[in-house]
Formats: sequence, structure tokens, C-alpha cells
Amino acid sequence: MPLFVIEHLEPKVYPWCILEYKHISSVVRKNNLLITKTANKKLATFAKTSKKSINELTFDTPCILDPEAKETLTPKIAATYHSFIFGGILGDYPPRKRTQEEVKLPYPRYNLGKEQMSTDTAVIVTHNIVNGTPLEKMHFQDGIEIDIKKGESIQLPYRYLLVNGKPMLPPGLVQLLKKQKGF
Ligand SMILES: C[S@@+](CC[C@H](N)C(=O)[O-])C[C@H]1O[C@@H](n2cnc3c(N)ncnc32)[C@H](O)[C@@H]1O
Repeated sequence: MPLFVIEHLEPKVYPWCILEYKHISSVVRKNNLLITKTANKKLATFAKTSKKSINELTFDTPCILDPEAKETLTPKIAATYHSFIFGGILGDYPPRKRTQEEVKLPYPRYNLGKEQMSTDTAVIVTHNIVNGTPLEKMHFQDGIEIDIKKGESIQLPYRYLLVNGKPMLPPGLVQLLKKQKGF
């Protein structure tokens, strides 16, 4: 089974990060998920963690998932790698290209299309590709609006995977955003 590696690049492990990472673990499983640059104890309950950055670690045939990469990941390409590296980043609108700037290792890079996905969507889509489903066979929705109270909503400017016609979000995220009134 391949290893999905997330370099945590936000200043803290925010509650929304925990929900996204937990969501990833529910799909790829604890043994196949490594979250680097953090020693957060909550994360260690559902993922392998390392205080070290990816820059200090070595990986079995790694590649980086980056929206700015020129080539798109396919099942055939994915079969040649064992480690898939992602940025643990909220993502800005317009996108700030942080993956390009902060995940600098000289490994091959691939995109999952040009639109930015949330980190959990990107990992789960890559997991699907690894398991043989090409990007063209998946369905997506660009951007979600979440009502947080009467007359007030927030926009999530990311591409989400549609599962049974509905955008797939980390369990608990909508409730958290309503409680916090945003990220
Ligand atoms: C919210 S995205 C961050 C994108 C952001 N605009 C940036 O600054 O790079 C979080 C992570 O998901 C992965 N990702 C999201 N969309 C992707 C795409 N279209 N292609 C490849 N990787 C993607 C990347 O690993 C990225 O670091």
C-alpha cells in the first residue's frame, strides 16, 4: 500500500485541520498516513506523525501533488510511485501557489487538474487514482457556500469530490464552521 504524506504547513494544528486529516485517515487508514512537521498528540491517534519536515526524511519513490505541476496524475503514473506528498494548507483565494514555494523537494510533481482542492479531497482523489479510477471518471463541484446563520454564509473556494451527487466534506466541518463562524 502506498504512503500518503502530508507536510503540515499551517502555523497551528487548527480544529479544521484535525477534521480534514481524520477524514483522510478514515479512507487511507492510519498505517498509510504520515503527517510531518508536527508532534500533535490528537493526530497521533489516527495517523503516523513526525516532528521532522519532509526535507529531513527519505521516502520510497516519492512524488508531490501540486496544482501548479504540468502533468496530471493517472493510474498508470501513480503505479510507479509509493509515496505521495501533499501540503497541509488551507488554500487561499486566489491561490497563493504555496505548494510550489513551500514543498520544494526535487521530486516529480503532478496535478489533479488545475483547480485547487481541499487537502482531504486531494488525498482521497489521489487514493482513488492509485486504486485505478482516473480523474475523468470522478465528478466534482467547484466552490461551496455554507450558511452559518440567518443571512450569513461563508464560501469554501475549493474543488470537492461529488459522492452520490453531494460534495464530500470532512465529517463535522459544517458544524465547526457554524460554531466558529468561519475557519
Ligand atoms: C488547499 S491545497 C493548497 C493549494 C494552494 N492554492 C497552494 O498554495 O498551493 C492543499 C494541498 O492539496 C493538494 N492539491 C490540491 N489541489 C490540487 C490539485 N489540483 N492538483 C494537485 N494537488 C492538489 C496539494 O498537495 C496542496 O498542497
